[in-house]
Amino acid sequence: MRGFSINKAGHSLEQVDYDSTKVNLLVNNPRMEIMDQLIKKDKMFYIYPSAHEEVLEFYYVLSGVFKCEDYDGEKVVLSSGDYICSQGLEEPVHFKTLEDVKLLIFSNEESFYHVSEKLAALEEVSKLVEAKDRYTAKHSQRVAEYSVGIARKMKMDTGHLKRLSRAAFLHDIGKVHVPEDILNKPGKLTEKEYEIMKKHPADGAAMVEQTYYKDLAPIIHQHHERLDGSGYPDGLKGDEILIEAKIIAVSDTFDALTEDRIYRKAWTAESALKEIKAHKGDLYDETVVELFEEVLREEGKID
Ligand SMILES: [Fe+2]
Ligand SMILES: [Fe+2]
Repeated sequence: MRGFSINKAGHSLEQVDYDSTKVNLLVNNPRMEIMDQLIKKDKMFYIYPSAHEEVLEFYYVLSGVFKCEDYDGEKVVLSSGDYICSQGLEEPVHFKTLEDVKLLIFSNEESFYHVSEKLAALEEVSKLVEAKDRYTAKHSQRVAEYSVGIARKMKMDTGHLKRLSRAAFLHDIGKVHVPEDILNKPGKLTEKEYEIMKKHPADGAAMVEQTYYKDLAPIIHQHHERLDGSGYPDGLKGDEILIEAKIIAVSDTFDALTEDRIYRKAWTAESALKEIKAHKGDLYDETVVELFEEVLREEGKID
């Protein structure tokens, strides 16, 4: 049923399992995350201050007994039905479990990605690709930074910004399946080699599809699509292409041009931007290109 799901006990988007604790991600979107966490008996655990004042965390005790070591100078015992709210906390609060404890945790900011093994594995792939394609070290990171710079100028909300940043960081992971001699080939690719190269957006999307970051898949899939339909893999046009993919297209092209490649020297920022501007409206989105120019100027990369 669209927009509705019933999930049986034990189902989760991802589970991480450590010696003393197990965390299940149950619900995830940029504005809300719900997890359950099992913490074994006789273990310490902490609630840490958040990065921003707006982050609200709520912990509901499903079962078990534990002790807060210091709440306004006192020790407090918590059990089933008790709950904790944390917002604007200044220092970590520590707890000790007296039995196995199960908590249901709500947060208005994502945190599971810090422990996500699937995301960590994808990021490893991204680094592996950069190592294979030795002229593009930190390419993904720079593409993510440029993309976020453009999106901020569009006033994209935080949730979408994060999604864009992750997609940009992972945009080329599908290249892990492209042989190194094709990635680093000095000359023009043969038709057959180009066909192999053109598979990387769909391969990357498929890799992300298997994680709870499924929503990144369409962006990664479309990062080589171009406005006039001349891109790949699907030859999408204009509005068929997601704005996030249009942003990555510009950042990616700029970064590729301004890096030394095995077959040519790096272009200057001015000439790379000029090249992109020459295709404003046919290959690249006009607004994206204009905002990117502002980003480059503010960063002092162009005059
Ligand atoms: Fe790519
Ligand atoms: Fe790229």
